[in-house]
Amino acid sequence: MKTIILFLALTSFAYAGSLGLAIPAGAKDVHLPITIGDIKAITRKLKNGSVETWNVVGPNKGTWVDSKGKKIDSSNYSYKAGTIVIKKVSKNDEGFYDYEPLTTFAPEKLPPGVHVDPVQRGLDLTVISSV
Ligand SMILES: *[C@@H]1O[C@H](CO)[C@@H](O)[C@H](O)[C@H]1NC(C)=O
Ligand SMILES: *[C@@H]1O[C@H](CO)[C@@H](O)[C@H](O)[C@H]1NC(C)=O
Repeated sequence: MKTIILFLALTSFAYAGSLGLAIPAGAKDVHLPITIGDIKAITRKLKNGSVETWNVVGPNKGTWVDSKGKKIDSSNYSYKAGTIVIKKVSKNDEGFYDYEPLTTFAPEKLPPGVHVDPVQRGLDLTVISSV
């Protein structure tokens, strides 16, 4: 029964169109390819419920900021062209990574007959504890 539930969970996850990545704790210089192209920010929802934002533009760029706007020491992270680089992965990095586009297109602005496919969105990072 457990297997079936797990399978269903995996299936719906695949349909949601996000990427899953499993990295061992302690792995170095791990690249998380969140997106390509110009973006405003990377967001991550951690397993403890905290949501953090990495601004690519603006005054708080280059650091994680918590939901209250407080800067978090981010010396173990860097950002390059849609990719977050983690110097050394820890269990605390586990969570769902997504991004905020620089510009958003209102769907009603599309010319008649134009259809935009939903793109793969977000990255689910699992950190495997070393035993
Ligand atoms: C950065 O990583 C090192 C090595 O894992 C760790 O000792 C240090 O506490 C980390 N710094 C921060 C601010 O998390
Ligand atoms: C959740 O974990 C992050 C990363 O370790 C930390 O910065 C944050 O304060 C934690 N939040 C809570 C509510 O414990």
